[in-house]
Amino acid sequence: MKTIHTLTSLTQLACSQCGQQYSAFEPQTFSSCCNKPLEAQYNLAEVPERTVLYNREATMWRYKEVLPVFEEENIVSLGEGMTPILELKRLQSAYELPNLFLKDESKNPTGSFKARGLSAAVSKAKEFGFHTCIIPTAGNAGGALAAYCAKANIKAIVVMPRHTPQVFKDECELYGAELILVDGLISDCAKKVAQLKETINCFDISTMKEPYRLEGKKTMGYEIAEQFGWTLPDVILYPTGGGTGLIGMWKAFREMQQMGWIGDKLPRLYAIQAENCQPVVQTWKGLQPNAKNYVGQPSLANGLAVPNPFAEDMMLKALRESKGQPLAVSDDDMVAAVKEIALKEGLIIAPEGGALWKGLLQLVQEGVVQRAERILLLNTGSGYKYLENIL
Ligand SMILES: Cc1ncc(COP(=O)(O)O)c(C=O)c1O
Ligand SMILES: [Zn+2]
Repeated sequence: MKTIHTLTSLTQLACSQCGQQYSAFEPQTFSSCCNKPLEAQYNLAEVPERTVLYNREATMWRYKEVLPVFEEENIVSLGEGMTPILELKRLQSAYELPNLFLKDESKNPTGSFKARGLSAAVSKAKEFGFHTCIIPTAGNAGGALAAYCAKANIKAIVVMPRHTPQVFKDECELYGAELILVDGLISDCAKKVAQLKETINCFDISTMKEPYRLEGKKTMGYEIAEQFGWTLPDVILYPTGGGTGLIGMWKAFREMQQMGWIGDKLPRLYAIQAENCQPVVQTWKGLQPNAKNYVGQPSLANGLAVPNPFAEDMMLKALRESKGQPLAVSDDDMVAAVKEIALKEGLIIAPEGGALWKGLLQLVQEGVVQRAERILLLNTGSGYKYLENIL
């Protein structure tokens, strides 16, 4: 069945727990049936063959049929996506890991993978005619929201922990956002957002509490497949806070399978968390029924300091289905990894990305990951914004 829209094949939203359908033609938050995230669904049968991509622009919008924007004029883009996948050659030979790669999301606008989710979400805010967007953030998402809102001429309100490094605050102000600082973690910022929303009419872009950031993030999964010639790596390590990247990639792989773009074999996903804030690891180990009451501490990797992720169930499902697992890494190890990768590979990656390298060494030592496997580290951001805490 053809829809009337030429840009996207989006048909509806569905509750991620029970599948109940919600309209994609009006603003939505999360499901009222189960109090869970909503997922965008597409008529995948009408999406063209993957060869349609060959002449398209090198941004995430090359996958427009599986992105949620109806009208081209509503796309708010700063050139996000199509970030390089680099071979870590010196680490490959020093550690006998012949197929070690890193996807470098620091090359995105505002220096992190958050650009993808916010490009999608702000585009939808524009499409629905909102004049104000609000977000609780650990840092990178706030900067990205501020930038995309500047481009779209939408007011941005960013609520951020006070202890976040200064650059994250400065960029919000330069992009013209209203910045509100809160004592505590992102979970405390989320409470503040809930309060503010009672008096302000705005599009709330809290992680997994609106359905479209996930769609932007999933383009990492599409790109990995395309850049590796439609054969996915054996193993992907991803630094996990709210989980949008992890869940998004898994969604992308499933969609591509349904469209026949990739085969049966999918990567094992490893979610790397901070030792200071490891709710998913604790649930995985059976030390708590879920993360609802987990109390976390700040981490140098501020993006990982998410104590009560709303989409925990979906993260656990992706980890189980992919036959992967979560794992925690200390702040000291992250700093050591950032320094080693700068020295050996010429990349200043975010501590969230650094955590992956130490996590990988642990998994190899335990025999969970084999040395010869094709391994992809997903470096989610630039280390430049964190230097005041790294040096
Ligand atoms: C650099 C970086 N990596 C990873 C994360 C965690 O991302 P997600 O919420 O998709 O798990 C964040 C979130 O703030 C981040 O800024
Ligand atoms: Zn439901």
